[in-house]
Amino acid sequence: MGNKLIGYGSYLPRKTVTNADFERVMDTSDQWIVERTGIRQRHFAAENETVADMALAAARAALKNTGLTVDDLDMVIVATTTPELDFPSVAVQVVGRLGATKNIPAFDVRGACTGYIYALHCGRAFFTSGMCERIMFIGAEKMSRFIDMNDRSTAVLFGDGAGALIFERSTSSYSGIIDTVVMSDGKSFDMLHGTADHKIVMNGPETYKKAVMLMPDAARYIMEHAGITADDVDWIVPHQANLRIIQSGAKRLGFPLEKILVTVDKHANTSGASGALALAYAFDNNIIKKGQLVLYPAFGSGLTWGATLIRV
Ligand code: ACO
Repeated sequence: MGNKLIGYGSYLPRKTVTNADFERVMDTSDQWIVERTGIRQRHFAAENETVADMALAAARAALKNTGLTVDDLDMVIVATTTPELDFPSVAVQVVGRLGATKNIPAFDVRGACTGYIYALHCGRAFFTSGMCERIMFIGAEKMSRFIDMNDRSTAVLFGDGAGALIFERSTSSYSGIIDTVVMSDGKSFDMLHGTADHKIVMNGPETYKKAVMLMPDAARYIMEHAGITADDVDWIVPHQANLRIIQSGAKRLGFPLEKILVTVDKHANTSGASGALALAYAFDNNIIKKGQLVLYPAFGSGLTWGATLIRV
């Protein structure tokens, strides 16, 4: 039992923050940020705009894109690490605000920057078991809530936004979410974590070293598992953390840079929202075309890492 991609949507907050805006409030420069990260701008949600608001906007866009209503879905999974409320989940809030008349299962997964792969991993199991017909996967984050303006090495890295993809059960096992792999290593907690008072603690160079090793590892694993090579893959849509990480990972895998989708320059690192946001951007701009094979590796706090193979 397989699945296929039937629609997508995204949402970016109206407020754009450029590197020049950071130059005005801290000791940094556009040149440093662009050279070290490739980031040129990011979107920040309004103060009263929540993760659920952004997830809802992306969900509405995805439903509009498919011509479906929330009652056509039988599960909603949200990948988020930055919800304002511990309960209820963002997924349940979204389903309620979409006006569902059915009582479908809805839940959040927390996998930091790998969260969306964790969500797809769960959803794939529901498709394979035949338990679900149509699932909406949303990635939504308000990273700006965790930004410490006294820490220039992390403040400039993150952005807010949401993306959503809808998959439907299908008889083909070569479409939609073809494969997923997710992993974790809790021993590296100190390298990258959030604090109770919403600050990001990160050892940048160590995080960089792990990311350029583990994302290619996950990508390699999934290609071997699927019996394909780099030549079979049309696009790599890596978690958008940092351009140097993306380029170094692509080089290790032997992928030409033309096959790498980059949105980190526009969105910065939106953690669990980055993959769905990047895919929505690529579909909107006719960059990734129907039928193409996409490899999406990710890495994040935990540590967590993983990859998925999607025929769009
Ligand atoms: N502007 C100007 N200078 C800065 C800034 C800034 N925003 N931030 C740090 N610096 C300075 C440091 O203070 C340091 O100065 P010093 O030499 O006088 O002490 C200097 O730049 C070098 O600092 P490093 O931390 O060694 O810089 P590095 O080259 O490692 O780059 C960076 C830092 C960009 C954070 C890099 O380590 C990195 O990309 N790490 C991965 C981080 C990441 O992507 N995390 C996202 C979360 S995980 C994920 O999503 C995969």
